[in-house]
Amino acid sequence: MTELHRNNIISADKNEAMKRAVAEVFAIMSCRAPKAYIMTFGCQQNTADSERLAGLAAAMGYTVSDSPEGADLILVNTCAVREHAEKRALSVIGQLKHIKAENPSLIIGVGGCMVSQQHRADTLKKSYPYVDFSFCTTELYRVPELVLSRLRGQKRRFPDVKASLESTDFSEDVPVCRASRSHAWVSIMYGCNNFCSYCIVPYVRGRERSRLPEDIVAEVTELVNDGCLDITLLGQNVNSYGHDLCCGVNFAELLRRLTAIEGDFRLRFMTSHPKDATHELIDVIAENKKLARHFHLPMQSGSDEILRKMNRRYNTEKYLETVSYMREKIPDIVITSDIIVGFPGETEEDFEATLSMLDRVGFDMIYAFNYSPRSGTPAATAENQIPEETKKERFARLVELQNAISEKKNALELGKTLRVLTDDGDSVTTGRTDGNKLVRLSRAVEGGRFCEVKITDTDTFGLSGDPVTL
Ligand code: 5AD
Ligand code: SF4
Repeated sequence: MTELHRNNIISADKNEAMKRAVAEVFAIMSCRAPKAYIMTFGCQQNTADSERLAGLAAAMGYTVSDSPEGADLILVNTCAVREHAEKRALSVIGQLKHIKAENPSLIIGVGGCMVSQQHRADTLKKSYPYVDFSFCTTELYRVPELVLSRLRGQKRRFPDVKASLESTDFSEDVPVCRASRSHAWVSIMYGCNNFCSYCIVPYVRGRERSRLPEDIVAEVTELVNDGCLDITLLGQNVNSYGHDLCCGVNFAELLRRLTAIEGDFRLRFMTSHPKDATHELIDVIAENKKLARHFHLPMQSGSDEILRKMNRRYNTEKYLETVSYMREKIPDIVITSDIIVGFPGETEEDFEATLSMLDRVGFDMIYAFNYSPRSGTPAATAENQIPEETKKERFARLVELQNAISEKKNALELGKTLRVLTDDGDSVTTGRTDGNKLVRLSRAVEGGRFCEVKITDTDTFGLSGDPVTL
């Protein structure tokens, strides 16, 4: 193992401190049968982080419950990617005031991307006096220590965000409590170096840090041995995995190692950056059926001028070349994307270029977002901010076009027999294809299993079919 690897892993001291705090909280709380409630906003990375928060809560002796009523510990995991997400989190945190008034011994901690901005951490400290502590995205391992300090009646704690985010280490030892047996999230890297001009993520999650390949292989092997069937590898820019490691393992090589694990499972990953969607990576997917036939490749805009202003470091020609190589090598690939509408300076012509790219690429599905200025990012202070009305109108046109394309794409599945992983539950009527398309089943089947489904109907939002096995 090289020096660089070691830099990325939490120091033994911090690990020991985390474990000591877990044990001390456990000793204090075990006689009280305490309850914890964890609320999550935002992306899959946050969902994965919350599974670690749940793991820590369980290790500290809390029973993780799905309602805030009667909770002794509430952890809120926030998002900052758009203003709407911040407003919702702040409103929910506002409502906790009443719960705390009824139960003054309740401990409330707020973490995640929103409070990894100094102004938000300061606001929490000043205007939400019933919040006990906040912690940055890099500090999950500190939660036991923060809970312990409040149990001991010590001061509320709000971080110096800059100092917290500068720490590049992370813990391999934080316990995890997964919500599903058949699906799992596995973070393979943290942070982002890309600084797309609209995006807050690099400021709130710090620089890219890749986990060691052997740790990821060990985690996935354990999941597969436990019967997990669908594993999503997570990272803000997952296909730049390994750039910070010295062991010569890039994302394609990591996938080769993971697909060599024995067992019937499928692997997916998100989110990819088009600049890192190499032919080598596409070849690995083409060659290996354990990799889901799905590529989420955020395009953001179909105008070269806007892509340049977004600092995306590819143009539409490069994007189309990647898509065409993917389709040549993996004809059944499902391609989905993220599109931002109303980026500063977006003209009607730029927007029409995006519509035209939707037609040319033929995405199976897109996630569309109105541009939301994020304080501290270059685009937030750019000239020519687009009026909300124009964004709304363009958004509606974008969605209308994409709906028509999705309907046609889904219709191509009619009559096929596809492998579907049924959703969790004892008896369920929905599942997902390898391409992550929603399938409504004509009869209830056992959840969390692969089954073959004959597709009998399709629409804009998914497929319907008859289970032919199970
Ligand atoms: N405004 C709107 N959408 C954004 N995204 C990221 N930042 C912003 C923003 N400021 C979108 C991008 C990204 C997705 C996760 O969120 O499309 O791919
Ligand atoms: Fe944000 Fe760009 Fe990094 Fe994605 S690649 S997290 S959009 S900065």
